Amino acid sequence: MIKISIISPSVRKGRLSHRAALYFRNFILEKNIGDVEILDLAHYNFPLFDERLRRQENPTPAMIDFSDRIRKSDGVIIITPEYNGGYPASLKNAIDLLYSEWQKKPVAFVTVSDGNFGGTQSITALQFVFWKIGATSVPVSFLVPYVDKSFDADGVPADKQTMDKRAEAFVNELLWYIRAKKDAPE
Ligand SMILES: Cc1cc2nc3c(=O)[nH]c(=O)nc-3n(C[C@H](O)[C@H](O)[C@H](O)COP(=O)(O)O)c2cc1C
Repeated sequence: MIKISIISPSVRKGRLSHRAALYFRNFILEKNIGDVEILDLAHYNFPLFDERLRRQENPTPAMIDFSDRIRKSDGVIIITPEYNGGYPASLKNAIDLLYSEWQKKPVAFVTVSDGNFGGTQSITALQFVFWKIGATSVPVSFLVPYVDKSFDADGVPADKQTMDKRAEAFVNELLWYIRAKKDAPE
């Protein structure tokens, strides 16, 4: 069974991008694609980064839990809101904690905004960071403009047919890389 983690990085009160995380979790379950869980950075509440996990003398249980879940994931979907043309500090804070966990890990990006550009400017920096850390950045993007109108608070899309069609193409691309990695020699 394929295992996918969805990282929901917004820690903002009244956050909206988490709706997209809920949608993708529901989509993967509905389509029986595999096991899926949301890694909610608001829930993890990591302190401001001061050292990589592997060099910490007393890592918190939350950090160890996050590391384990990423390590065990076959692929990761990152839901990123766009903040001033980039991605949120909470996300970089979590990425930098880990290193080997990311190696060759297929990672696909969903960008979110409340305007009409769908957070598209945040993706370049994020792809570069994941290239640098040795992950496999899946060359596909999923833009969510007008997030407040696109999903309700439970992640139910306003236009389910269109959203599901787009999500299918996006997730299929991630699955291709997941399978390629599974088939590849160690
Ligand atoms: C600090 C900050 C900066 C933002 N900068 C941008 C931006 O550069 N481009 C954009 O389209 N939306 C921007 N927005 C609007 C966000 O896309 C919108 O608030 C979205 O809901 C953020 O996700 P969140 O609600 O999960 O935090 C910004 C929002 C915040 C809080």
